[in-house]
Amino acid sequence: MAEREQWGSRVGFIFAAVGSAIGLGNIWRFPYMAYENGGGAFLVPYIFAMLTAGIPFMVLEFGLGHRFRGSAPKVFASIDRRWEWVGWFQVLVAAVISVYYVAVIGWTISYTGFAFSQAWGSDPKGFFYGEFLGLTSGPLELGGLRPTIFAAVALAWGITWLACMTGVRKGIERAGKILMPVLFLMVLVLTVRVLSLDGAADGVNWLFKPDFSRLMDYKVWVAAYGQIFFSLSVGFSIMLAYSSYLPAKSDITNNAFMTVFINCGFSMMAGVMIFSVLGYMAAQQGVLVKDVVSGGVGLAFITIPMAINLMPMPVFFGTLFFLSLTMAGVSSHISIVEACIAAFMDKFGWSRSKTTNTLCLVGFAVSLVFCLGGGLYILDIVDHFVNNFGILGGALLEIFFISWLCRLDVVRQHVNRISDFAVGQWWDFSLRFLTVGMLGVLLISNFYGDIAANYSGYDLGPLLCYGWAVVLSCLVLSFVLRGRNGRAGFVMNNDNSIRR
Ligand code: ALA
Repeated sequence: MAEREQWGSRVGFIFAAVGSAIGLGNIWRFPYMAYENGGGAFLVPYIFAMLTAGIPFMVLEFGLGHRFRGSAPKVFASIDRRWEWVGWFQVLVAAVISVYYVAVIGWTISYTGFAFSQAWGSDPKGFFYGEFLGLTSGPLELGGLRPTIFAAVALAWGITWLACMTGVRKGIERAGKILMPVLFLMVLVLTVRVLSLDGAADGVNWLFKPDFSRLMDYKVWVAAYGQIFFSLSVGFSIMLAYSSYLPAKSDITNNAFMTVFINCGFSMMAGVMIFSVLGYMAAQQGVLVKDVVSGGVGLAFITIPMAINLMPMPVFFGTLFFLSLTMAGVSSHISIVEACIAAFMDKFGWSRSKTTNTLCLVGFAVSLVFCLGGGLYILDIVDHFVNNFGILGGALLEIFFISWLCRLDVVRQHVNRISDFAVGQWWDFSLRFLTVGMLGVLLISNFYGDIAANYSGYDLGPLLCYGWAVVLSCLVLSFVLRGRNGRAGFVMNNDNSIRR
């Protein structure tokens, strides 16, 4: 049995982990989440969620991956083979995310090209939905394949394939070391540039102006926790796989704190950048900032192009903006796919090349659905259900299992023994009570929300078929992949001393 691959250096690991965390979620999701949920007041639950759930969860995943040297299913099987399915559930959630996430990267790649000539013209909205997406009338009308998106998605899969194929050190680590510093530099340059535009301060003010009355609304807290989990890539098998490649002597707590702080700091910077642009746009049009803001895909692909049309040096801003979205997306996509590759290699003993070829090919084939005229609807529905039930459900199962049915103190001792600074009992408390409680409330409220009203006004048919069925299939398949023998297949790191 070959030795498990390892990161070449600590910096390499941090870049890879940060590369996974920083993604599309930071640059366009964070700003509008903050805006929609009380502006500056959103930062209160966001920082609370970061400290009480984000950091403890990151320490936990780094610690477990490091101790059991395995992907998610292997970690769970090593502790108790009956729980292996939870690892597979997380891997399948990651697999679903990988096939639609790459479609959005396909859009950002296309828009990087469009930005050279502002190909979206004077009507970015019409261009995006019409000429570019060829959006059909509803989610059940699939429409034809969009050649531009198809080509860009193929390119994105090609990059991910190359990074994963060449392995942890030569591929993934190298990609992180190139993409992350360049991304930081680009976003920094963009932020400094747009901050000097007329009206930028008004935009930033809008983002951070606190509306404390919103703090009483549980939905604001739901949004903050959801954002933290998605953005930190915790709870869906990625950080377990990444930390399984850490060498024996690794500083877990420091790495975890750094990854979380860099990720959240980057989100703030991206927020300032986006809202400076919106402030400028509002000033140019003589309207209020709130009248130019839009959420979801509209922000990056409609509002920002509109703003670019009004800017001095539009090519500079446009290409740099979409290139940074692409780079952030690609490094996250690599990590999502690697989490799946690691699981199949661990369980079935396949070689890296066989696993990478198989998974990337299947993934590419499935992601073609999102290159169709009706792709945006399907993406929207799958994303909603996978985020609200897949990620949060997988995260809750993991934390509940480890903190209530296993000995969290043994994990803490393991982490503290090898780390520069120790985490205290606050860590156990946060995971056992705060995070489990909060995730439970989130899941129940999401469930009731989706039962009470059809998400985004879609008919029940598409919601059942692209939403509920996808999450349910992940659940069923996780037992199939676990197999009847449970742990069979894994080269185990037999250590169930943490099981109560
Ligand atoms: N953490 C990744 C993101 O924020 C998935 O996009």
